[in-house]
Amino acid sequence: MNHQILDLFRRRFACHSFQRERTIAQADLDVVLEAGRLSPSSFGLEHWKFLVVSKATDKAALQAACFDQPQVGEAAVVVVILAKTADLHPDTAYLKTHLAREYPGEALAPALANYRGFFANTDIRAWSVSQCHIAAANMMTAATAVGLDSCAIGGFLADRVKAILGIDGDRYEIALILPLGYCADTAPEKQRLPMAELVEYH
Ligand SMILES: Cc1cc2nc3c(=O)[nH]c(=O)nc-3n(C[C@H](O)[C@H](O)[C@H](O)COP(=O)(O)O)c2cc1C
Repeated sequence: MNHQILDLFRRRFACHSFQRERTIAQADLDVVLEAGRLSPSSFGLEHWKFLVVSKATDKAALQAACFDQPQVGEAAVVVVILAKTADLHPDTAYLKTHLAREYPGEALAPALANYRGFFANTDIRAWSVSQCHIAAANMMTAATAVGLDSCAIGGFLADRVKAILGIDGDRYEIALILPLGYCADTAPEKQRLPMAELVEYH
């Protein structure tokens, strides 16, 4: 099966060691961030915020907060993806403005009532983090498209990451940490279940 998009998915891999000395072009980083910005989100709420960390001391501190995974300290840039929490409360201006884009005019009031019910019955932090993972997936594919390597990092101590970067824990959760750069390793062979085990046609 051949297609340009599948080629990107096949080429992306979790890079566990980056070339320390290589920086990345701002234009390439911009493509990755734009892919995140354009990602779909439930209710169109754009649950994410992207912190770009490039200072060596901050990256070293983040590495320590990520169970000392070396790719975090070695990467040219580490994007910390924050998941909004407080903004998602039904009474915030943020929520109302965003919902009004999806449900203009008279559609807003019933949509807001529906959202209130959803909000009351949902683990909002976990939901917001899951939305950010969608953006992260797009960002990793975009990184491959511009010749960058990446590694999704879900192994971190959230409180330590928040302390290092001065993140307000009442407003944000840490969704994912995304080191970007040029890999020092070669890509391992992709290991995936066969399609027949994953897909059922009904
Ligand atoms: C949400 C998430 C969290 C992950 N956390 C880590 C991590 O903390 N450290 C790591 O080395 N890889 C991490 N990975 C990478 C996976 O281990 C990797 O994607 C998987 O083994 C498949 O390999 P591939 O990405 O090279 O195809 C994470 C991936 C995802 C999607």
